[in-house]
Amino acid sequence: MSLCIGLTLSPTWLNGDGWRRADSNIEQLFSSQYYLELAKRAEAAKLDFVFKPDSLFLNKEIVNKTPGHTCLDPVVMLTAIARETEKIGLVATMSTTFSEPFTVARQLQSLNWISEGRVGWNIVTSIEGSENFGQAVMPSSKERYERALEFTEVVRKLWDSYPNEALTMNRTSGQFTNHEIISPVYHKGKFYDVAGPLNVPVFGSESIPLFQAGASDLGRSFASLVADACFVAAPDMDSALELRRDLQRRAHEHGRDSRAIRVLPGMHFFLGETREEAQQLYQDTYAHLTNEQRLAAVQRILGVDLHHLSLQSRVTAKDFPEVMENVRSRTHADLLRRIIINEEPTLQALLSKPEVIGSAHWVVIGTPADAVEEIIKWYRHGALDGIIALPGGAVQSLHLFFEKVVPLLVDKGLFKQEYHGDTLKAHLKNK
Ligand SMILES: Cc1cc2nc3c(=O)[nH]c(=O)nc-3n(C[C@H](O)[C@H](O)[C@H](O)COP(=O)(O)O)c2cc1C
Repeated sequence: MSLCIGLTLSPTWLNGDGWRRADSNIEQLFSSQYYLELAKRAEAAKLDFVFKPDSLFLNKEIVNKTPGHTCLDPVVMLTAIARETEKIGLVATMSTTFSEPFTVARQLQSLNWISEGRVGWNIVTSIEGSENFGQAVMPSSKERYERALEFTEVVRKLWDSYPNEALTMNRTSGQFTNHEIISPVYHKGKFYDVAGPLNVPVFGSESIPLFQAGASDLGRSFASLVADACFVAAPDMDSALELRRDLQRRAHEHGRDSRAIRVLPGMHFFLGETREEAQQLYQDTYAHLTNEQRLAAVQRILGVDLHHLSLQSRVTAKDFPEVMENVRSRTHADLLRRIIINEEPTLQALLSKPEVIGSAHWVVIGTPADAVEEIIKWYRHGALDGIIALPGGAVQSLHLFFEKVVPLLVDKGLFKQEYHGDTLKAHLKNK
């Protein structure tokens, strides 16, 4: 048994004030060499994949103080990495709300050739960006997931439309392809009208693994139909456990193997040689955030303005409408709402929660041994199949992850020492 481990290529360790540290190498943020070195290091540690989140908008307020969502395009970045690595999987985030199925199918299949079968697609429905694609407002969550389902169906049909076996390349007969088995898709649905076939043949015989992020009821339903792996925001073990069980149940109901979906919580770890050092790192990372910025974050997540409350007032369920429509991400809104209902924190306490100041991911602050202990605990309770590593605070968290956390997991027999295949599909299969 080996955990499935991926590393984010969003430099999460530069978030907050991390980028201001002397060793942050921030000037390299847009250089391909920076990401290439990360990917090579991840490959040397035998990680299963590198993972490139993405967004298609820029928040000017956030980028004023921190890199935020400023980033290179995933497919372009991963193409540069593909040429210089051999084994590690390359997972690209692409939006089903703001792209076209033909373009996505073609780009990913092209990257699959260039990387020789190492591509994965992280399917997202996006939380912002409609203004960049000629739409005044974001489509509702329901419409975005309906679109995602049809979009994914079209991409799969396009991949099937030009099978690898069609490439006969017979010099003697002059037949380049067996065009009998290349078939148009003639898809006509609610959102897409695509004739096909794709003009890139399939690489090899394995399908491209599909990742998904978004854990509302609609998101789970979508994931349980199509996903091979889920990137999960789970601040505590119980929420990961509940989500994993629910995805297994839903996959089973759809006639899939209940273990078909690997549940991979994002693990946001602030590591130090001592716990005190790690705690300091965490505090320093977010110390600059004013209450005004924290309140703005609550408003972004929940759509409610809490300015009228004093810092000592308790925040309770009555501060929110019963049904929260049109939140950017139901996953994030539900996680924060859950804290409020369970804990009724003071506004001050709420504004210091990781779910407000950072992300809704599982936060671990401690030594590498502490991080390993946490991973083992979650694994033994059945809350994960692996993790997506999101090092936090400073580059030291990344170094300690490679130098200590991964080797400790190998020592404990929870992570492989060698790759057992050449494709992402093979890496995921060996779990
Ligand atoms: C852990 C996690 C990671 C996500 N990563 C991205 C991303 O990289 N790019 C993006 O456009 N949306 C991302 N999303 C947004 C989701 O794709 C989705 O649009 C959003 O969560 C709304 O769906 P929900 O109502 O199911 O939460 C992410 C969501 C979650 C929970």
